Amino acid sequence: MKSPGIFIILAVAPLLTAALWMDRQQSYKPYQPPVLNTPAGSVPTSGREGRTPEVNPVKATRDSLEQGKILFIINCALCHGEVSSQPGSVGLKLDPRPPGLDQSRMQELSEVFIFRVITLGFGRMPPFKDKLSPRERWDIINFLHTRN
Ligand code: HEC
Repeated sequence: MKSPGIFIILAVAPLLTAALWMDRQQSYKPYQPPVLNTPAGSVPTSGREGRTPEVNPVKATRDSLEQGKILFIINCALCHGEVSSQPGSVGLKLDPRPPGLDQSRMQELSEVFIFRVITLGFGRMPPFKDKLSPRERWDIINFLHTRN
């Protein structure tokens, strides 16, 4: 037996054929079990966000406004204050102070712009991408419109 090479090739060949289809399976990560196909036409409802929608997809129903008010008080008022004459406890420590969100300049900002500010943050304001769902952000925006 002069050349053991042929045996090595024979032994490794099945592994090589496995490698041929390895990239054509439904797993995203190595060693992940195969995942099922999503039904045709379905859209993701969680996970990474796509682009900012171009219009506010959430109607300003009573439900949305109530939700928006609660979320505003929890997430925004500590800096911006519930009314611009009274910054929140964190806002008082910032210099310059965060703008009151009931000011007319704020009311002129487009909804999509405010959505981006909340999602990505703005200057010294932190991003809320991981803290508020898109739906929750739109609820806050709907609520902000009721205050001027
Ligand atoms: C940690 C404090 C803090 C929190 C919490 C916060 N903001 Fe802000 N926000 C700021 C500051 C500070 C600015 C001004 C930006 C700057 O000067 O760097 C600002 C600016 C803004 C602006 C104005 C952008 C412009 O064009 O002037 C909007 C709108 C806004 N915030 C909305 C919100 C909303 C809605 C929430 C709640 C989801 C929120 N902020 C939570 C600190 C905060």
